[in-house]
Parts: sequence; structure tokens; C-alpha cells
Amino acid sequence: MIPADRHAELEVLLSRWDEAYHGKDDPEISDAEYDAARQELLQLEEAHPELKREGGASDRVGTMPDSAFGKHRHLVPMLSLDNVFGAEGFDGFVSRVGRFLGLTEEGLQALQFVAEPKIDGLSISLTYENRKFVRGTTRGNGIEGEDVTANLLTLKDVPSTLPNDAPDVLEIRGEVFLSKKNFLDLNEQQEKRGIKPFANPRNAAAGSLRQLDPEITRNRPLSLFAYAQGYSSSPVSETHWEYLETLRRWGFTVNPLSERIEHARDIPTYVEKIARERSGLDYDIDGIVFKLNDLSLQERLGFAGRAPRWAIAWKFPAEQAMTRLLKIEIQVGRTGALTPVAHLEPVNVGGVIVSRATLHNEDEIERKDVRDGDLVRLQRAGDVIPQILGVVESDKPRGPRYVFPDHCPVCGSLAERVHGEAVRRCTGGLTCEAQVVERLIHMVSRAAFDIDGLGERSIREFHAAGYILKPGDIFRLKNHQDTLLKRDGWGQLSVENLLRAIEERRTISLARLIFGLGIRRIGERNAQLLARHYGTFENWRDAMVSAQSGTEERDALGSIMGVGGAIADELVAFFSEEHNVATLNDLRSELHTIETEAAPSDGHLSGKTIVFTGTLTTMTRPEAKAIAERLGAQVTDSVSKKTSLVVLGEKAGSKAKKAADLGLETVDEAGWRTLAGL
Ligand code: IVH
Repeated sequence: MIPADRHAELEVLLSRWDEAYHGKDDPEISDAEYDAARQELLQLEEAHPELKREGGASDRVGTMPDSAFGKHRHLVPMLSLDNVFGAEGFDGFVSRVGRFLGLTEEGLQALQFVAEPKIDGLSISLTYENRKFVRGTTRGNGIEGEDVTANLLTLKDVPSTLPNDAPDVLEIRGEVFLSKKNFLDLNEQQEKRGIKPFANPRNAAAGSLRQLDPEITRNRPLSLFAYAQGYSSSPVSETHWEYLETLRRWGFTVNPLSERIEHARDIPTYVEKIARERSGLDYDIDGIVFKLNDLSLQERLGFAGRAPRWAIAWKFPAEQAMTRLLKIEIQVGRTGALTPVAHLEPVNVGGVIVSRATLHNEDEIERKDVRDGDLVRLQRAGDVIPQILGVVESDKPRGPRYVFPDHCPVCGSLAERVHGEAVRRCTGGLTCEAQVVERLIHMVSRAAFDIDGLGERSIREFHAAGYILKPGDIFRLKNHQDTLLKRDGWGQLSVENLLRAIEERRTISLARLIFGLGIRRIGERNAQLLARHYGTFENWRDAMVSAQSGTEERDALGSIMGVGGAIADELVAFFSEEHNVATLNDLRSELHTIETEAAPSDGHLSGKTIVFTGTLTTMTRPEAKAIAERLGAQVTDSVSKKTSLVVLGEKAGSKAKKAADLGLETVDEAGWRTLAGL
């Protein structure tokens, strides 16, 4: 692949992964895979500087999620850290510091550092004005974050006032995290309530902090280590170490393992000590942060891009362990994907007991040649579910090679693997019980219908009992109230609560409804795009039903979805199946109101009426129309006094003349592209 294409591909992937990680607290890939992709992007940009774009993935520090929280600009930006992975990398960092400051070898030896464990949580900024806590924000995109003041107030580690010696205006940075124990307890509760468990403590902490109801946050025992300064109206100290001591005195919690390191040569000892203690700590750390102690040196060094020159993160490798693979099991997901899961003899990996691991797909099993009964090496990179690195040689005879099924283990339908894809899929569609159940589980999930008390467990139970066989049945569950009450584990109160929670969701936003259908490739973001574009349920459904390949609707659909093709095809495929449409209509008949979505108010073409005329050379007419609409404009066919703008393509005829006669604003295609921000 040519570098420009690979670069563009990495940009798309990284922005999707960023969104999943920061925006939804639900990562799509492991940190290691993310780091590798980011590293590749940076290398490409180093070799081909012309590929780098402003605001691209290499400039980004997290993303700004679509937020229900107010946004707030940090007084001093919240940046990230550069990483090294061992002594060699660290020495490189020290040399760079030395070169920048023009230090002699002696000067280099005299540099003092502060070492702090690198907590795998989420960074936040606390603002104090006149010694009162006034605001707490997440990092967001580094420039502005989300206002989570009310939630941070529930943390015992956030003092609400500071003593008299604190500056008038002060920003303090730290890491919010959940201890391993609290994380496991929280996940157990989530699973009991039928809510998808969090993948790792970091996501759990992020999800807990970004709750709209602070009372929920209060019940999640979040902690905070304070470790850095943002803005300060007057200096607090001359060294970072003194700063940490001051923070302690002011009532913040500073990580007790933080140490002042007098000489760079003492660093390996510290690293070894922390590496030894790591798995016994009650919180996940993924490395050590080293900061120059002298704040005047920090100031001279300043920042390069997204990271300070005066600090470095020494990252640890993921934690590993060995155990026996009991059995490879195939799970069938919502879209029919056959996913192999390894059941393991429970083992402690870096302080977390694990009994399952993902094997990703057929090729992965083939590559690693893992078999039932093998001794395997595991690695956990922050997540509860570890990866299998490979088989450990043993003298015991091994079982037979694993044969990946070519039929669905649940419904027996053919399981197909489309050329070029890694995943094998059951072709049973809605005749496959597994897919039906997974779709129902998806439908009631947090980002979709979000029905409290109706989670994975209850859906499986009600499906097996025959109460809920398709989405509309959820809203007819009340018809089974009497038999439901007789079931084990259900009492008057729990049934009443459940039925009330269901009733509350008869009113739903269009975006949640679309997302809830669980159509392949239609995640929250795409669902929102569709909802915003079509506005009402009926509009959307009718457009989907008439969008067949080759039609103008299908082309417009491709443009609305931005990247287009594959996503639009999934929608077309879903709506070309009559039973899907029937199931959707059945669900619709149970819902009271489907809240329509307002046109995007931030669209800078809001309120404008645009006419396209002539031939456009860089995009199709439906695409131009979709783009204009996405930006809030209305597109009409005929030019009148009410037209705000006429876009003149090649060979524009009578409409161009009419626009000139009426004295309307006109632009050519290039002008239109600029206007649309293309
Ligand atoms: S200092 C400008 N200190 O690691 C310096 N960061 O990979 C800002 N982190 O965004 C960060 N423990 O979320 C610092 N003791 C520590 C840290 C720490 C964890 C996180 C923080 C930061 C990320 C960078």
C-alpha cells in the first residue's frame, strides 16, 4: 500500500478507536494494538512530513465526546506524555534534555527527578478560585474538557477548600481511578443487573465519572491521585517534589510510592522495585512517570507537540501468566459472527483472576495453533479479558488440531467467510436463536433502549420462556405478569420495577431506536447521523425501504454516512429483508413517541436554501445535497427570491441566468467545496 493510503487508513482507524475509547469508554482494541498503530502513523509522518495534517491523529490527545456535560476550556492545556519502553529509551530522553539545556556530562549527572507510578485511569483538572473548589473537568481533547464538577465533589480525595497559603487561582491535575477490588465488585453488580461489564478499571472509572446523576458517582468508590500543576496565579514551589508535598498538606492524596530520585543512576533500582510491587498493588499501573524535579528547568524545556520535554513515561510490558486452556468455545454474536473464546483454568494475571481469553478469529487459532488442553501464555494489558500469546512447549502429548466449525454451533446454518474478511458468520439471520437473543440484548443495552433491570440475564431467561421472541415483545411483557411472578427470583417489587422501566422507554429518541436495531456497522455515531438527517422515524424508514442499489436514495445514503459504501449496503441489506421491516413495524406499534431529531444547530448553513445547477465534477448531486443538509441547509430545485445560494456547476444554464437576474449569491464548485469545509 502506498504511504498516503496507509496514512489515511490509520487516521480513520485511530479516530474511530479514539472515539470508542474516550467517547464511549468502550475500547475496540487493546492498548498495545492502539500504540502500534499510532507508532506506525508517527513513523510514516516522520518519513513523509507532507502527510501530517493539523488536528490529525498525531496531534490529538483524546477526543471530545458528544457530550451532555458543559464544556470548559483548561487555563493551561492538558497534554500527554511521550513513552519509552526501557533503559535505552530512558537514556535517550535524558540525553535530549541535556542537549536542549546545553548541560555538561556533570550537569547531566546532577539532574534530579521525581518518579511516580503511572496510574491507568483518566486525568482530570481541578480548579480552585479563592481557595474554593469551583470546577472539575475531564481532559477532553486537551484544550477543553467536560465539566464534571458535581461528580468530582463526591470523591473523598477532592478537598472542597484549600488553606490560606494556596494561590487565588489554581488548577491541579491528577488521575481518577478505581481500585482493582472496587472494579471487580462493580462489574459483578453490573452483571447482576444485566448491564455489560466494563473491560477494565480505566473504562469503569471514566464511565463512573461521566454519570449525569452525581448520586451514581457517589456510589462508585473512585479515588484520585494528584500529580501535576496546571495554571497557578502565583508559584507554589520551586521543585516538583515540594509541590507534591504541598498538595499532601492541602489535603490531596499523592501516590505514596512517589519518590525523589537524586541521581539518574538510581533510576533502575526504582523501576525494579515498582515492577516487583506492581501486581500486588490495588490499582493498575502501566509504567512510571519521571519528571525533572527543578521547575525552572521544566519551564525552560517546555513542550514539544503534545508532550512536555521535561517528563517521560517508562511503560511496563503487559502482565503475563501461564495456565491451561480447558476448551475452545464458539460464541455467536448479534451479527452472526462466530467468535472463539478460550476457557481457562483460573489464573492470577497481574492481580486479576481470569478464566477466559479471546482468540479473536479462525486465523488467530490457526496461527497460534492452540488446542484444547494446551498450556498457554497469557497477557493482560489493563483489560480483564487477556490475550493468549501462544502455546508453551510441553512434553505431554497434545490433543488434535482445532478445526473451526463451518456451521453455526447454535442453529446449524452454514457459517460463511466472505473473501477478505477475518470473521466467519452464521447465515441463519433471525432464524438463528443466538443472533435473535444477542440482538435483543443489544436492544435493551445502555446506549439503546437502556431498560433498567432488563439485561442479558433476564433477556436470556425471557427468551427461553417464550415471553420475548422479538423486540416488540419487550413491550408486551406485562401480558405475562402473572406467570412472571411465579418464576424463581421474581417478586412483586422486582416485576413492578421492571415493567415500569419498560413503560418509561415507550418514548425513545430516533437515534437510540436506530442504534438498538443492531444493524451491522450502525453504531451510536452512525445512528445519530441517520437520525439527524432523516428527522422522523417514518422519513427514515421510508427512505430505507426505497433505498435499493442503484437508486438515488442509495447514493444519498452513502454520502450521509460520510465514508459511505459499506455502511449504506448494510442498511440496504437489512431493509431488503421483509421480516426485518415487519419486526421493525411491530416494534414501532408498541412505542408511543419517537422523538424526532432537530437538524444540527451548529451547521453553519442553517436556515439557508441552496440550489445546485449544472454538472458537478467532484461529487454527485445527491452527495452535494446530503452534505448541504448535514450542514443545516435546505436544498430545492428551483431558483426563486427565497433562494440564498446557487451553486453553479459546469454548463449551468437557465438557473444561472435567473440567479443573476434576481441578484442572488452564487458560487462555483470550488467555492461550494470551501463553504462546505471540504
Ligand atoms: S503527568 C504534562 N503524572 O498518563 C504532564 N501523568 O500518558 C501530564 N498519568 O495524561 C501528565 N499517572 O492521564 C502524569 N503520575 C502521573 C501520571 C500521569 C498517570 C496519565 C495521565 C496522562 C497520561 C499520559
